[in-house]
Amino acid sequence: MDLKKAFEVNKATWNQKTAIHFESEFYDKDAFAKAKNSLNSYELNALGDVKDKKLLHLQCHFGQDSLSWAHKGAVVTGVDISDEAIKLARKLSVDLGIPAQFVCCNVLETSNYIKEKFDIIFTSYGTIGWLPDLKPWAQMISERLKSGGGFLYSRFSSYRVDV
Ligand SMILES: C[S@@+](CC[C@H](N)C(=O)[O-])C[C@H]1O[C@@H](n2cnc3c(N)ncnc32)[C@H](O)[C@@H]1O
Repeated sequence: MDLKKAFEVNKATWNQKTAIHFESEFYDKDAFAKAKNSLNSYELNALGDVKDKKLLHLQCHFGQDSLSWAHKGAVVTGVDISDEAIKLARKLSVDLGIPAQFVCCNVLETSNYIKEKFDIIFTSYGTIGWLPDLKPWAQMISERLKSGGGFLYSRFSSYRVDV
């Protein structure tokens, strides 16, 4: 498989999907703007108090969950391959007055773009299925996580792996 081409197609597809998702009932943008929360209780319970914690959100889409963590006090950086998603995440951050950083890159190349280390790394549903190989993904997570930090992969049920 030509991986470069596969990532380009994936990016183009997510660029098209971003606006559709933003307008969708599932992402309910008006409810989000009011509540400033899109996280599930099991995710909130899993991470507890995130105030002042540095949190890296992998494959953040257009940033609802990233901004939710930031609204809870975390210092958030979101990463996504879709430039349309990142553009919208940055706009939402400004519109809602919730500061967060957003970086557009292939998640597998995160360490080329971000050098800091994080207390928490978070990713949720609909993410790892787009990746051809989880070894570089796991390697990147280990590079970006502080010693003693936590990684949460929240599917629909969640589990936490302390590193
Ligand atoms: C189903 S969405 C994630 C939904 C997300 N869990 C949420 O809460 O909104 C999948 C996201 O993964 C991103 N993505 C797919 N492949 C990627 C890659 N190789 N690197 C970074 N982001 C990627 C897409 O651009 C898209 O925003």
